Amino acid sequence: MPPVSVEAWAKVNLYLHVTGKRPDGYHLLDSLVVFAGIGDTLRVEAADDLSLSVDGPTAALLDGMGGNIVLDAAQALARAAQIPALARIHLTKRLPVAAGIGGGSADAAATLLALSRLWGVTLPPAQLHALALALGADVPVCLRRRPTRMGGIGDTLAEVPPLPAAWLVLVNPRIGLSTPAVFKARQGCFSAPQPLESSPADAEQLAAMLAHRGNDLTDAAISLVPDIAEVLQMLQTTPECLLARMSGSGATCFGLFAGQAQADAAAAAITAVHGQWWCKSAPLLSAS
Ligand code: C5P
Repeated sequence: MPPVSVEAWAKVNLYLHVTGKRPDGYHLLDSLVVFAGIGDTLRVEAADDLSLSVDGPTAALLDGMGGNIVLDAAQALARAAQIPALARIHLTKRLPVAAGIGGGSADAAATLLALSRLWGVTLPPAQLHALALALGADVPVCLRRRPTRMGGIGDTLAEVPPLPAAWLVLVNPRIGLSTPAVFKARQGCFSAPQPLESSPADAEQLAAMLAHRGNDLTDAAISLVPDIAEVLQMLQTTPECLLARMSGSGATCFGLFAGQAQADAAAAAITAVHGQWWCKSAPLLSAS
């Protein structure tokens, strides 16, 4: 069996409403999740044991992160398929870690997809979904790899109206942020779900539809990492930026742009002022 490579695209929450809280502490969400054409790369090949190697620009950030979700995903899939977990896994890490763009979740989802192919395993969709959810609330949506409305704690996934071509500029102040800490710091009441009711004609219309939707974790994240306010301010005041918001539990924020030229120019302008920030432009993957 030849090696299998799968891209683990960055996950971006175009809006994220916290709509309630379950007795077990998990929060109920309503979110429009999309993927950006930048991510980690997961490569798997046949081997006599299970191993993971990591390289790439943000690989060093994984040090000391404890149990790696990629190995957890491999072992969970092997257990479910009742086969030994044998694979050489290589991860090229390009996304910041603990950053609100699902780096770990996308890596776990890519592991499930790549190893399913390598091992010739086809789990029933419901079993794969449950296995993904047990790895993390964002893993099921990362398995879909296309614009999705996310409800429940991340486990209720639905189609969204077609989205137009658009570009994103992702900016992270290079400060990791723990998801549980952000949910814990959140204050205030819950929001109503507001799924997109129709298909926006272009990026401008998408921005207009998102204007009255937001990310309910923003204030909590800023209370823990004040630099996020500066990132948002910088994006908002960049020419041609249609909308700026935080993704997930932060600290990564995104700007929405109509095209590549505008996004590339914005990323260059932000990098010129804040060379220490992680800043990338990438297309919104409107389908996969
Ligand atoms: O499932 P995951 O490991 O990604 O979640 C990390 C933590 O984030 C959870 O333990 C919980 O504290 C918080 N969380 C939450 N509601 C969600 C997702 C995550 O409260 N929907």
